[in-house]
Amino acid sequence: MYYPEELVEEIRMKNDIVDVISGYVRLQRKGSSHFGLCPFHNEKSPSFSVSRNKQMYYCFGCGAGGNVFTFLMEYEHDTFQEAVRALAERAGVKLPEADDSPEARQKESRRARLLSASKEAAKYYYYLLRRQEGEQGMKYLTGRMLSKETIHKFGLGFASKYSNDLTRYLKQKGYEDELLQEAGLCTIDEKHGTHDKFWNRVMFPIQDGNHRVIGFGGRVMGEGTPKYLNSPETPIFDKSRNLYGLNFARSAREDNMILCEGYMDVIAMHQAGFGQAVASLGTAFTQGQAGLIRRYTKNVYLSYDSDGAGVKAALRAIGILRECGMSGRVIHLEPYKDPDEFIKNLGTEEFRGRMEQAENSFLFELRILERDFDLSDPDGKTRFQQEIARKLCGFSEAAERENYIEAVAEKYHMGYENLRSLVVNHAAREALAARGNRPVKATGKKSASKDGGRWAQRLLLTWLSEEPRLYDKIRKYITPGDFTIDLYREVAERLFEAIEQGSLQPAAIISQFEEEQQQREAAALFHTKLPELARDKKEREKAFHDILVRVKTYSYEYDSARMGSDLDALSRAVAGKKALEELKKTHISLD
Ligand code: CTP
Ligand code: MN
Repeated sequence: MYYPEELVEEIRMKNDIVDVISGYVRLQRKGSSHFGLCPFHNEKSPSFSVSRNKQMYYCFGCGAGGNVFTFLMEYEHDTFQEAVRALAERAGVKLPEADDSPEARQKESRRARLLSASKEAAKYYYYLLRRQEGEQGMKYLTGRMLSKETIHKFGLGFASKYSNDLTRYLKQKGYEDELLQEAGLCTIDEKHGTHDKFWNRVMFPIQDGNHRVIGFGGRVMGEGTPKYLNSPETPIFDKSRNLYGLNFARSAREDNMILCEGYMDVIAMHQAGFGQAVASLGTAFTQGQAGLIRRYTKNVYLSYDSDGAGVKAALRAIGILRECGMSGRVIHLEPYKDPDEFIKNLGTEEFRGRMEQAENSFLFELRILERDFDLSDPDGKTRFQQEIARKLCGFSEAAERENYIEAVAEKYHMGYENLRSLVVNHAAREALAARGNRPVKATGKKSASKDGGRWAQRLLLTWLSEEPRLYDKIRKYITPGDFTIDLYREVAERLFEAIEQGSLQPAAIISQFEEEQQQREAAALFHTKLPELARDKKEREKAFHDILVRVKTYSYEYDSARMGSDLDALSRAVAGKKALEELKKTHISLD
């Protein structure tokens, strides 16, 4: 449901951000801000700041940021509307009853419509599975030993044999073809018209952390290709930032998560009592998914297929986990192929045993690596040891590296001192090589100017939000149109408008965006680090002037580059050039 802006603003003002976040994070006052350990990434010293003045938070480490609504969206995985409701309740603000009028529906965002179409589709598939049309699907699932409760819990369903069944049903419910296509539920082609994407398949709805259906995987019954058909990426389905089973795993109350390869693996694991199992979504494991897991735990067990492809996928996942500061442990399933088969044959307790024996991921990597070398040959052995040394150099923390040197030396009978000197030599060679390479890495001029332009735009927005009175002096030269990135331009429009009305509240600007990612980026625009060098007034004036000139220059270059194809750009460029020349000659005082 869509809430009016004034109401959203009232709720925001009644929930002081420092009070709300203190309920989740230990904050300490430092100057005008409060600082704590960032709940969105892993850190040892606090770079997470919360400002009572700005009513915003921002992490200088990972860039998480926003207002009090954004915080709930990120921390509790709420939607914007859910965050509004939660905070309304906290502050005792009464919300209007749900409004089902056509106008209200119109206002419901595109995203919400896509979510609602997906939910209806899931309900329909669920219904079919339990009807005669779905008999074959039900047989298949029970044949794979899934209980009625499990089938219900995961909302499994069935897409019928008729290739237009779902589309017809949803259209009659008021969803238009184009929306269904955007939701990935059907395809439209000129010759055959509209076609369901899935038919005659057992359906696995994919849910986000809040149990909202965002996509589907559909499996053929028995043999046949493709074995799984998955929804395409859509505005609501980002395969690299969601995990199958996370909606349950996030509240599993375990100190670990188990990462599997397949939907069926996750389901079998949950049924066997491992509610912390998740899987990626028909694609390889990504950094975004690692980041999601890290919100809940740093202990990851990998339970990938035991075949060659599974080992390869596990090695990749280990690398990604490590980059994200997590270490994985590998569960061995031999002689079975995957967790589903393992559980079916040996059961829960045996699996728990395998978890206890899970192999350290670094030692797992070495064991796989070892296969490529002939250790009975002295040369082969040397090369293997050098490779080990190279990998050990990857640990940047000394204590951790030492521990691994010790463990590896023992396992491979190498002698601690020997291995250590191999590592030291390798590190020295790398350092030398890096120094030799440096000049080659010079960045292109073009991209530097682009980044510089964006950076200047951000600096200007932060500066104006901190000293709004300066806006009057520059309004002649700078307009929202000078901001070349859509989001920056929208923020500038709102910022300038608020300043003109004398009611600047940066945190209110944030809640005009509904998406968490947009709120985060908007918050970052108010937290750019202003130049420190500007100590006295003269230096500050120069810095401010530089920023203005840079924003204006970049905007002029941007328009010039588009003059050929865009008539408006031509006139903007002409006006821009004039303003720029005038600006260059003008002294702007900060008094
Ligand atoms: N997958 C896919 N498309 C395929 C095959 C696999 O998207 N053609 C993805 C699915 O997400 C699947 C995962 O890869 O869940 C693992 O594949 P696989 O091990 O073959 O499937 P399982 O989930 O184990 O399914 P089953 O037990 O039914 O074979
Ligand atoms: Mn499998």
